[in-house]
Amino acid sequence: MKESSCTWLNLPSLGLSIRMLFTGFLLAAGFGLLMAGGQILLTHGMADGKMGLSVDDIVYSYYGNRNNSRLEAKLNGSMKDMASPEVRLELIKWTRNGASVEGWDSHIKSLFQANCVQCHSVVPGLPDFTQFEAVQEVAKVDEGADISSLTRVSHIHLFGISFIFFFVGLIFSLSVGIPKWLKVTAILIPFAFLIVDVISWWLTKFSPGFAWLTIVGGFGYTAASGFMWVVSLYQMWVLPRNGKVYQLNAWRD
Ligand code: HEC
Repeated sequence: MKESSCTWLNLPSLGLSIRMLFTGFLLAAGFGLLMAGGQILLTHGMADGKMGLSVDDIVYSYYGNRNNSRLEAKLNGSMKDMASPEVRLELIKWTRNGASVEGWDSHIKSLFQANCVQCHSVVPGLPDFTQFEAVQEVAKVDEGADISSLTRVSHIHLFGISFIFFFVGLIFSLSVGIPKWLKVTAILIPFAFLIVDVISWWLTKFSPGFAWLTIVGGFGYTAASGFMWVVSLYQMWVLPRNGKVYQLNAWRD
């Protein structure tokens, strides 16, 4: 049998300096991943007002809270006593039908005049409800992430994170003794789930039923890259200590 070359090309046999380089990268990237997780918990995690990430958080973040506007919420909340039930109902209906300027001019303006502007035009800091624009602002439904920010976050996410997965996978590809199917799957999953993740934001933006896909995507690539991270560090620093010499070109394996 012809002797294969590069029999040192595997994680346990690598020289100290390249192991240091790989380790430094894995530690920094792992720390980065923890920070990313923390940021997700703090921004999206609190979107539904409760701690911890849930499907509702993802729906609020991307799809928005479309059956409510600030105006409607207040009319059912702290502004409830400011108008009769009939007037409130009329205001809510107008809001839900898109807060049109025609409705404002013909009728709604007078309801605001009669019930709201004695405070909302004189008290500093409160929106001035003699102005249609101010009413329109609070009558807007929350539509979640807008397209331009979603586009921006999507491409930053895809470019940035695929870089990290590329290096994590490259290092892991030098591991020994992992069944080939497992190795190939572990390397492929993060990229596949990264794409699923980003696509799921867009799907959720248009239909809240897809929010669970975001969780599946995030969980999938975290699990696969976590596995590669642990195996790589173990094979670089723990395996060489048991004295066994691995004569294997891992990139040929
Ligand atoms: C007696 C004074 C008073 C009247 C009358 C009043 N408001 Fe208010 N409104 C306030 C105060 C004070 C706040 C701020 C505290 C709060 O949000 O509860 C507020 C806040 C609001 C907000 C939230 C504004 C924001 O920037 O988030 C909306 C919406 C609102 N009011 C709608 C109405 C509507 C509609 C009416 C008439 C049906 C009305 N208010 C009548 C005093 C008033």
